[in-house]
Amino acid sequence: MERINKFKLVLWIILGIALAAGITRFIFGLGATTNLSDTTPWGFWIGFDVMGGVALAAGGFVIAAFNYIFGRKEFHSISRAAILTAFLGYVAVVIGLLFDLGLPWNIWHMIIFWNPHSPLFEVGWCVMLYLTVLFLEFMPVVLERFPNLHLLSKIHKVLTKIRIPLVVLGIMLSTLHQSSLGSLFLTMPYRLHPLWWSPILPVIFFVSAICLGLMMVIVENMTSSYLYKREFEENILGKLSRIAVYLLLFYLVLRFGDIIIRGAGIFLFQASWGTYLFWLELALTVFIPLIIFIIPKLRKQPNFLYLGALSGVFGIVLNRLNVGGLTHLTNLTKSGSFYFPSWLELSISAGVVSLAMLAFFYFIENYSVWDEKPKDIDSEPLTVPKFNTNYVYLGPTKTANRVKFSFAFVIAFGLAFALISGKHIYSKGFDKTPVYKARGGDTLLIDGNRNGYGVMFPHKFHGDSIKIACGKCHHLNKPKDKNTQCFECHNDMYLTGDAFRHDWHTSAQGANLNCFECHKHNVNKGEEFRGNMAAITKLCLKCHNDLFPADVKVKILKTYVTLSYTDAMHKLCINCHKERLAADSLLRKSKPGLALCSNCHPKPAQYSAEHKLFTKQNVNKWVVVPPRLK
Ligand code: HEC
Ligand code: HEC
Ligand code: HEC
Ligand code: HEC
Ligand code: HEC
Ligand code: HEC
Repeated sequence: MERINKFKLVLWIILGIALAAGITRFIFGLGATTNLSDTTPWGFWIGFDVMGGVALAAGGFVIAAFNYIFGRKEFHSISRAAILTAFLGYVAVVIGLLFDLGLPWNIWHMIIFWNPHSPLFEVGWCVMLYLTVLFLEFMPVVLERFPNLHLLSKIHKVLTKIRIPLVVLGIMLSTLHQSSLGSLFLTMPYRLHPLWWSPILPVIFFVSAICLGLMMVIVENMTSSYLYKREFEENILGKLSRIAVYLLLFYLVLRFGDIIIRGAGIFLFQASWGTYLFWLELALTVFIPLIIFIIPKLRKQPNFLYLGALSGVFGIVLNRLNVGGLTHLTNLTKSGSFYFPSWLELSISAGVVSLAMLAFFYFIENYSVWDEKPKDIDSEPLTVPKFNTNYVYLGPTKTANRVKFSFAFVIAFGLAFALISGKHIYSKGFDKTPVYKARGGDTLLIDGNRNGYGVMFPHKFHGDSIKIACGKCHHLNKPKDKNTQCFECHNDMYLTGDAFRHDWHTSAQGANLNCFECHKHNVNKGEEFRGNMAAITKLCLKCHNDLFPADVKVKILKTYVTLSYTDAMHKLCINCHKERLAADSLLRKSKPGLALCSNCHPKPAQYSAEHKLFTKQNVNKWVVVPPRLK
């Protein structure tokens, strides 16, 4: 069994590297080890480990459905391996997720603190439940190795009895959360590229997961057969590929139909990163597999069959990556750069996959997953009392090989640690996102971070027509200024800021003040002010009597820490809109959606038209007011 051992050696090396990367991630945090940022908080791990992983595991429920629900008994012989793949796939998803979560030790929170409005809540619960179901579905394979232990064989009996309900439950849970991973992205029409964002994203996710499930079974079966020099189930895999043809055609119609009906067709033929990724994804997912699976001559050759299935697997994993992070628009429009995972991110993902594969081989060798022996096995045959006579055991790995594997693992671990540079160890801190002036005239285009997604704010209308006092919004001024614009103090798009700047007041480049201008001689630690905002405000007003605009009534600062620009806007605008709606029944009739996101943010239907107005080149000479605000 040379092939399999060489392959395992590689996996152990990857695992060693991943362990070093994983330790670094947990000691020094996400900011230090990944290329993720505030603008791209979801990257490779979510795209590949979680969304790709869940989709890759779809083979389990697809084969189980064929086998037990549709009564296609010919799939029986591959169902154990498919369920094992799904089970290990889900374990890998959970392990991968632990690396991505900021506070992984809080992962149990969703069990107790329910937020039923969140799609992630559903995904989390489904993953948890389905993992349990898969565990119970696979358990009999492990238990049947111990037929002499009374308790275990009793459990085995019970589990075999409830197999059908388990399978049904598993299919239900899979259906729910394969699709709700898509629902998750329904909330971000402004972030996701229009070729991917769609109201039927859940359906697209579900259909593609079934396609992927079929192809994954083919890939998994042929790979392990190759590695163990075993005849693969040519007949069954051929059948699967023929079923896949119909599904792929359906998927193709679904994707293009959706894009054209939504009016996103113009994006199909653009010279842009998103468009290239789209065609690459579709070629891999649909075109290559379809050509191979439809032409019998190609389909009958194992090499081509494998190529077709592998291409499909890559294609749909690329789809999840695209949705999960690669095509989020802000990455591109903002700085012209796009997110690419760091080598630590990549190696941790590779490590998780390697771990799952090694576990897969372990189960294949020590439990009866296959019903037919490979041609040559050089390891000692396992003498286990045969409980289930249809299946075979291959036997454990030889000691000499185990020594080799451990050695490779340790060396790889050490080398990777040496390669992790200081750069990864010192955190990058938070990304600052400076904010800029609003532009326009009577209607302002508020687009603080200049990312092309702004809000049309009818400024004059609020002042003149609704008669809102200037000071209701312009609540604080900089010294010697009037109507100071919000961005001067709320000066980061997403982070809080400091409107006082203690050290600037004392520095020579700043106000150049002596400590004692503010602090008493005997108390030079600032304790007389600490936390006492009334005293601090009084102090500020001593030097800046123009800090508060004349029409502001309560002249006390609550704090000098400013909200982020986005929060300041939302708190001001949405709160007032809500209050007015609650107070004014006429307004409730004429503008029921005043406090909804869509009142201020462009709607998906207007998105592509307005997007053009907001492009980088246009935005500085922006003059047009879209019709809805005129
Ligand atoms: C009353 C108007 C209003 C409403 C309602 C509103 N927003 Fe905003 N929102 C704004 C303004 C103004 C900004 C600042 C825009 C900018 O500078 O690009 C903003 C910014 C944002 C940003 C940051 C944009 C960026 O460029 O990073 C997000 C995200 C956002 N809003 C989401 C929402 C969501 C979700 C809702 C509904 C729950 C909502 N908003 C409702 C006015 C509104
Ligand atoms: C409903 C809230 C609101 C009211 C009322 C309001 N403003 Fe503004 N104003 C804003 C916002 C938001 C901006 C954009 C500031 C930014 O992006 O930093 C702004 C910007 C400005 C600007 C700079 C933009 C420009 O047009 O050059 C001036 C000047 C200004 N306001 C003056 C006034 C005056 C004077 C009044 C009273 C008649 C007033 N505002 C009433 C919210 C308001
Ligand atoms: C001179 C600096 C300065 C300017 C200019 C400024 N703010 Fe603020 N803002 C602050 C500070 C400091 C606070 C916190 C102190 C407080 O709430 O009294 C704050 C708080 C807020 C809050 C939270 C209030 C609350 O009840 O918690 C909102 C909303 C807000 N600002 C919106 C705006 C908007 C909109 C503008 C522009 C029209 C603006 N600010 C201009 C400094 C400023
Ligand atoms: C413009 C007035 C002003 C000047 C000048 C000034 N301080 Fe302060 N200082 C304050 C205020 C107001 C606080 C309270 C801050 C708070 O509670 O958040 C403070 C707080 C402090 C604190 C406590 C910090 C903390 O974390 O609670 C120390 C220490 C301090 N100042 C030292 C100094 C020293 C030393 C100088 C001279 C180099 C100086 N200050 C100059 C206004 C001033
Ligand atoms: C002892 C006098 C003194 C006190 C007290 C004082 N400042 Fe100042 N402040 C100054 C001087 C001097 C300047 C610089 C000249 C100017 O713009 O007036 C300044 C400038 C500023 C500026 C403009 C800085 C900029 O970024 O351009 C702000 C905002 C400000 N102070 C806020 C505050 C706040 C908030 C407090 C209360 C916590 C405060 N100051 C207390 C003297 C003072
Ligand atoms: C103090 C209250 C108040 C604040 C603050 C406020 N608005 Fe409004 N806004 C209103 C009211 C009331 C209306 C509806 C007026 C009407 O049509 O009778 C309105 C209407 C609107 C409309 C719809 C205009 C139309 O023609 O349908 C937009 C857009 C809007 N506001 C955006 C904003 C944004 C953005 C902000 C924050 C920068 C903001 N508003 C802050 C009270 C407020």
